[in-house]
Amino acid sequence: MREKLNQIGQQAQLALEQAKVNEDIEAVRVKYLGKKGELTAVLRGMGALSAEERPLIGQLANEIREGIEKLIETKKTAIAAEMLTKKLAEEKLDVTMPGKVNALGYKHPLTIVQEEIEDIFLTMGFNIAEGPEVELDYYNFEALNVPKNHPARDVQDTFYIDDNIVLRTQTSPVQIRVMEKQKPPIRVIAPGRVYRSDALDATHSPLFHQIEGLVVDKGITMSDLKGTLDIFAKRLYGEDSVTRFRPHHFPFTEPSAEMDVMCFNCHGAGCRLCKGEGWIEILGCGMVHPKVLETCGVDPKEYSGFAFGVGLERVVMRRFGIKDIRLFYENDMRFLSQF
Ligand code: DAH
Repeated sequence: MREKLNQIGQQAQLALEQAKVNEDIEAVRVKYLGKKGELTAVLRGMGALSAEERPLIGQLANEIREGIEKLIETKKTAIAAEMLTKKLAEEKLDVTMPGKVNALGYKHPLTIVQEEIEDIFLTMGFNIAEGPEVELDYYNFEALNVPKNHPARDVQDTFYIDDNIVLRTQTSPVQIRVMEKQKPPIRVIAPGRVYRSDALDATHSPLFHQIEGLVVDKGITMSDLKGTLDIFAKRLYGEDSVTRFRPHHFPFTEPSAEMDVMCFNCHGAGCRLCKGEGWIEILGCGMVHPKVLETCGVDPKEYSGFAFGVGLERVVMRRFGIKDIRLFYENDMRFLSQF
């Protein structure tokens, strides 16, 4: 029996030396120390021993059991250490490897310039106003002094939801909405999408963007309009920019004008960018028509104001030399990633 016990001890030791993973160790434990294990089987046979031998064999069996248990613990620790070393080696961080570059989005060129224009007016004390793109005919036309059957409706033919609801053709209806809600002094710009039923080509789109401006206060004159818009042009195109105002007609302003900026490319000489004109038209403007003020409950004898509307696409196209308006709406990364 003594021999058998020593043999078990040696076999277990050998098996543990060869164990490579935790499962191997567990198999050894079950084989020798488990309920149906070899050591247990030997101990079961101890009843046949003499009274003198029994404690001696018992002690030996315990020593062997403890020996195997100790070896198991040692081996477990060794395997854990080995696995950690292996894992660390596998996961070693090579700081010299080139990093993974995440594909970041870009700001759309229209957004870049719109935000620039917003900043220019915010620093001049303007607030930003918003209005709905699906608009009542009343705000888009009627309140802006464009009654039904007015010829000005032809150039702004739009998408009718029904007789009284349209997709707004201009950001000017926001003027009305602001004046209805707010007493003067008013200083707002209103950027946003507008719609017209134009066929899509290189210079026209049924959807485009405008930035509206409105100032109403006591004693506002044409010189406030010219001064403000001249500063706007200089901030947008550079301090040496020159502006000019040409008389024009809009139903909701009187007098009305269009503002040109001297072509920043040829400085007035005429080039391809300005189509040989030397000047580039960037906005319509004028003194708010007294009828429009009255419609909004603002007394034209007490208050006056000026308004303007900038076509955003045109400004951005000129700025970046973009020849086709459709590029703005196609979501082509080759185009968008250039800004
Ligand atoms: N709403 C006009 C258009 O779409 C642009 C415009 C002209 C706006 C003169 C104004 C303005 O506020 O005063 O053609």
